[in-house]
Amino acid sequence: MSLLPTPAWFVGCGNMAGAMVEGWRSAGVDLSSAVAIRPSGREVEGVRTVRTLAEAGPAPRLVVLGFKPQQLDDVAPELGRWITSRTVIVSILAGVEASSLRARFPNAAAIVRAIPNLPVAVRRGVVGLYSDDADGPLQQQLWQAFSALGFAPWLSSEAELAAIGSVAGAGPAYVARFIAALTKAAQGRGLSEELALTVARETVLGTAWMAAASGESMDELARRVASPRGTTEAGLAVLDREGVLDGLIDVTIQAAGRRAAELAAEARPGRQVDSGQSLP
Ligand SMILES: NC(=O)c1ccc[n+]([C@@H]2O[C@H](COP(=O)([O-])OP(=O)(O)OC[C@H]3O[C@@H](n4cnc5c(N)ncnc54)[C@H](OP(=O)(O)O)[C@@H]3O)[C@@H](O)[C@H]2O)c1
Repeated sequence: MSLLPTPAWFVGCGNMAGAMVEGWRSAGVDLSSAVAIRPSGREVEGVRTVRTLAEAGPAPRLVVLGFKPQQLDDVAPELGRWITSRTVIVSILAGVEASSLRARFPNAAAIVRAIPNLPVAVRRGVVGLYSDDADGPLQQQLWQAFSALGFAPWLSSEAELAAIGSVAGAGPAYVARFIAALTKAAQGRGLSEELALTVARETVLGTAWMAAASGESMDELARRVASPRGTTEAGLAVLDREGVLDGLIDVTIQAAGRRAAELAAEARPGRQVDSGQSLP
């Protein structure tokens, strides 16, 4: 199955772009003319891997930017020499706006921003898509390609993309913390670490799965678990007290959003980027 414009270059292929490759491979997408370019030369399974752009081969029709936002100005000048009016650029760089990318790659056919999350590796990801200039057929082609990795909505503004990035892009880390907290609570009540982790993980997976299957609201779902004056109700009273959980999640998302705004500002043309900073 060939869903991607080819040749496709993955410029930077670490955790996130690597997860996309893994998802596409398990979906049976043909990656035989794809190439991963990463300075370490570490092999990306199923894709020819090289260290430099010069070794990548014929000029790309698709370029996936998979490095850190702070590396944009290191990579763009040389990469720009390979970009033609037939090249589509898909950037997964958190926070970096389409106009900042267009300024670096003025002759690209289209600039697309994609904000994926790590579960794309198992084809249960969320990928927000946004472009100022992709036409209908390209949007459809990319929607098909990214839908192989999970839920992949096209969005009408970069503000919506940022919202998806702060909830879904970063979300697996927050959910992982929640599962870890459930695990610790189960261990505290005498379960072995392995059993506690499995119980916590399966509870989150089963709840999300059931909610997706039934389409019921989260309030309804919680009500079905919590019988009046029962044990769950006593627990929910703690989580709900003065909106403590809602407030905690809100400040968490706000903090990530502030960092995304900083990254966006740093990547605007003419800004000096501190390449020592790392992403959250
Ligand atoms: N992680 C997430 O959940 C997530 C979610 C949404 C968006 N993103 C975005 O995904 C991007 C990558 O994040 P990540 O977590 O995958 O980081 P990562 O694992 O550190 O991967 C970064 C990649 O960039 C490569 N690289 C470094 N310098 C380069 C250069 N000069 N030219 C070409 N490639 C270079 C690295 O090469 P080596 O492999 O050789 O070191 C590595 O493959 C970021 O822009 C981030 O905003 C990440």
